[in-house]
Amino acid sequence: MRIGVLTSGGDCPGLNAVIRGAVLKGTRIHDQEFIGIREGWRGVVEGLTMPLDRHSVRGLGKQGGTILGTSRTNPFEGPLGGPENIKGTMSRLGIDALIAIGGEGTLAAAKRLTDAGLKIVGVPKTIDNDLEATDYSFGFDTAVEIATEAIDRLRTTADSHQRCMVVEVMGRHVGWIALHAGMAAGAHAILIPEQPQSIDQIAAWAVSVRDRGRAPVIVVSEGFTLNTMETPHSEKGLDAFNRPRLGGISEIIAPEIERMTGIESRATVLGHIQRGGVPSAYDRVLATRLGMAAIDSVMAGEWGTMVALRGTDLVNVPFADALSGLKQVPQARYDEAAILFG
Ligand code: F6P
Repeated sequence: MRIGVLTSGGDCPGLNAVIRGAVLKGTRIHDQEFIGIREGWRGVVEGLTMPLDRHSVRGLGKQGGTILGTSRTNPFEGPLGGPENIKGTMSRLGIDALIAIGGEGTLAAAKRLTDAGLKIVGVPKTIDNDLEATDYSFGFDTAVEIATEAIDRLRTTADSHQRCMVVEVMGRHVGWIALHAGMAAGAHAILIPEQPQSIDQIAAWAVSVRDRGRAPVIVVSEGFTLNTMETPHSEKGLDAFNRPRLGGISEIIAPEIERMTGIESRATVLGHIQRGGVPSAYDRVLATRLGMAAIDSVMAGEWGTMVALRGTDLVNVPFADALSGLKQVPQARYDEAAILFG
């Protein structure tokens, strides 16, 4: 078999480790041939490829980004898009099956293409950890480490200046990064999309911290909304392939805290730094295992499924299950973290 591998959607630490895991197991154990598809679904639609063999993945496990490149191209759009055109392109390139590594948008497209007869296996990817049907996705651990280190650093400047620091982390639909990084760094409040809060409540947390002689550190997910806002930040015209930029909620909250409490406040948006650089050891291992499991699924002909983590085991789940909803932070997890607020 000739197997095409693509990475689609936002980049994520561990993508290269998945590619390496799939190629090494696929060549050494299953004796299969690989081809790299460049720039996500755009490569499938336009037939953009690059060589991919055991030599090209050497040393790749610890490398950030993706050697294949990525895009947010929708494979159903454009004159060359759609299942019939793609089948034609794949047969011209001699590609029998695809491993698609991506998040909700990528997997939704993979499901539609599989329903139309293409042979695709998915690997879940998201630093946000918001995909249903997998306990953790690679990239999340690295993003949490980066955010935690940044919050630790911001705390020393907060303490030195007696300022309130509002730190904005990624998470357009869910607050997993904020929850974990906020707990790890001992934040005085964690604001996530699942739990809208009023500015009065946030100001009250800041005041109680100041009254104990401390400088408040508040962590907020980019998708958080104040519960007075009409349209949730996370629902503004969302389209998996062509989303408006989020971010900036911290720049609304920080001046409001300052105005209401008199505590000098600053906003910091961490942004794409959370997706950059080398993956953590945990993410390297998880990503490598997922890549190896994906090639096993290809060999077993498990089309229309995604490899996923359940506890410490890897399992196969149908795309439909993976797309059944977003994995939100449960109430109990938030309540547990909130014991430490203020
Ligand atoms: O999907 C992960 C994510 O990190 C989101 O939290 C964020 O909204 C988005 O990617 C931003 O990605 P880009 O700027 O590449 O569209």
